[in-house]
Amino acid sequence: MKTLRLERLGWIFMRLSGVVLIALIFTHLTVNLMQDGGVKAIDFAFVAGKLANPFWQWFDTALLWLALIHGTNGMRVVIQDYVLRPRLRKVLLTLLAVSTVTLIVLGTLVIFTLDPCPAGTPADLLPSFCPAV
Ligand code: HEM
Repeated sequence: MKTLRLERLGWIFMRLSGVVLIALIFTHLTVNLMQDGGVKAIDFAFVAGKLANPFWQWFDTALLWLALIHGTNGMRVVIQDYVLRPRLRKVLLTLLAVSTVTLIVLGTLVIFTLDPCPAGTPADLLPSFCPAV
């Protein structure tokens, strides 16, 4: 009974997160690609400048968590549907869980701990708000 309720919540989560992900991903692509210079203009200064802004920090966190949890839950269902050997199924589900937790922790750390003005870096590689050395 408890499993059924969890599966139902998972089903609802996949529909809701799918809709939110469409908006987040298209915003992400538009902001990163529709700038002067397009994809070629993405460099350290661009990324560090974005990640110094709390709006983009939380935007990226939402995108990271939703995309990973959505993708992981989808993969979990595929494994449960197609992998019939119990031991192999357990190994794959464990690997999936470990990789997802690792990516969520590392990705979130990058978003909130990136130093946009690392000491000793030439000024032309840094965002414009970094103090001149
Ligand atoms: C041509 C396609 C893409 C380009 C050029 C691109 C570019 C970038 C860049 C420059 C960043 C770092 C700065 C920022 O936050 O915007 C970034 C971060 C990120 N992108 Fe993309 N992206 C693309 C597609 C996608 C797609 C399809 C997804 C999700 C399904 C995605 C998910 C993310 C996430 C979650 C982060 C934050 C990662 C972190 O710092 O932990 N990106 N991307």
